[in-house]
Amino acid sequence: MTEVTLDTISNLAKKRGFVFQSSEIYGGLKSAYDYGPLGVELLRNVKTEWWRTMVQERSDIVGLDSAVLQARQVWQASGHEEVFTDPMVECRNCNSRHRLDKLDDPDRCPTCGKTGEFTEPRQFNLMFRTHMGPVDSDENMVYLRPETAQGIFINFENVRRTNRLKLPFGIAQIGKSFRNEITPGQFVFRTREFEQMEMEFFCRPGEDGEWFQYWVDRRFQWYIDLGMSPDNMRLRHHDTDELSHYSTGTADVEYLFPWGWDELEGIANRTDFDLRQHSEHSGEDLRYFDQENNERFFPYVIEPAAGATRTTFAFLIDGYTEEMVNDETRVVMKLHHRLAPYKIAVLPLSKKPELIEPAERVAAELRRKWMIELDVTQSIGRRYRRQDEIGTPFCVTIDFESLEDQAATVRDRDTMAQERVSMGGLADYLGAKLT
Ligand code: GAP
Repeated sequence: MTEVTLDTISNLAKKRGFVFQSSEIYGGLKSAYDYGPLGVELLRNVKTEWWRTMVQERSDIVGLDSAVLQARQVWQASGHEEVFTDPMVECRNCNSRHRLDKLDDPDRCPTCGKTGEFTEPRQFNLMFRTHMGPVDSDENMVYLRPETAQGIFINFENVRRTNRLKLPFGIAQIGKSFRNEITPGQFVFRTREFEQMEMEFFCRPGEDGEWFQYWVDRRFQWYIDLGMSPDNMRLRHHDTDELSHYSTGTADVEYLFPWGWDELEGIANRTDFDLRQHSEHSGEDLRYFDQENNERFFPYVIEPAAGATRTTFAFLIDGYTEEMVNDETRVVMKLHHRLAPYKIAVLPLSKKPELIEPAERVAAELRRKWMIELDVTQSIGRRYRRQDEIGTPFCVTIDFESLEDQAATVRDRDTMAQERVSMGGLADYLGAKLT
């Protein structure tokens, strides 16, 4: 197994165009990132795979895309305005601020190294504030959502009624969330703007324990099905004192990041907390009516909550591989075919028009089905190296022989095996290989 450092992966991400620092030409905005041409494809593929297994392939889950800006009462009812806080301390010596619960030594400043200089901890609310409309008054203050989940709870009745849903059922959403983290860091692991993939699964009280276990198992397996190494994954149940204010039980899917085990996704039993709170605060009855038993009750909720950007990062780390080939190090990003930004690279051996023309024809045909890169620059060896590093599963090389036999060489990223395939049969051949 290849040891990956944070620097190796963030340098590769920048060099190859996966991720750039936000506002880089102005010195960079801390803790916000832009996803480049490769990063946006990888991130989209992660989200597509999540949506495919969580919505498309299920008869009991539907999707939603709710607004980032919601009424302030949403966050008062959900408890976020009061308790969505982290304990913050400030160093009197160097004025740096830290999240107390994340410090290795709660007395020692990690920035200047001094001990005993911290102020008393104060609870810092993580929600970003802005104003709606032209006047910056308290009445116009709104929060940027810190989780996508509340957009689902406040639409519970809209979605249930319009889709005639019966328990148990789920509502899924992917979207941006914002948290004014005290100590963002580790590249895109903890940022102030990020994307979440969350699903609220509504069930009968009493059936929540079973559904909790079901979703823990399902979500753990999702990463493995997409090629993540089980050796780098573990499940960790929260101790009672670390549970969020809404949860009676949470299990985290953790990944072995370069700095140690850390959270990828949390699966929580939110009970009927949110629907009950929103009913009380809004005056709308959000109970479910069970026709068979003629009774009304608040459903319980099991919530698998994953980070799309964090998961994308974990797949990059997990895929990064160094191999020795002919005494040289080959870097290969062993991404699952479904996640790879480009599925195929079409590489004419030279820039001569007689090779460019068939290469463009082949690329145009394959592009109808897959993301393709047509790369004509540099030596073929360097081009293979680039495609290996960005995780392209197959390279198709058009050479001078192709003009005679109407065939191309297909090179497999992982085995480096090469096979001659007729140009007319490439789409079928690659279609059978791409999983
Ligand atoms: N609705 C529940 C909820 O938001 P969470 O554990 O706070 O739970 C869910 O967040 C997931 O969102 C995390 O497991 C993580 O993958 C991602 N996430 C949370 N904060 C993040 C941040 N600052 N940067 C990147 N991803 C984050």
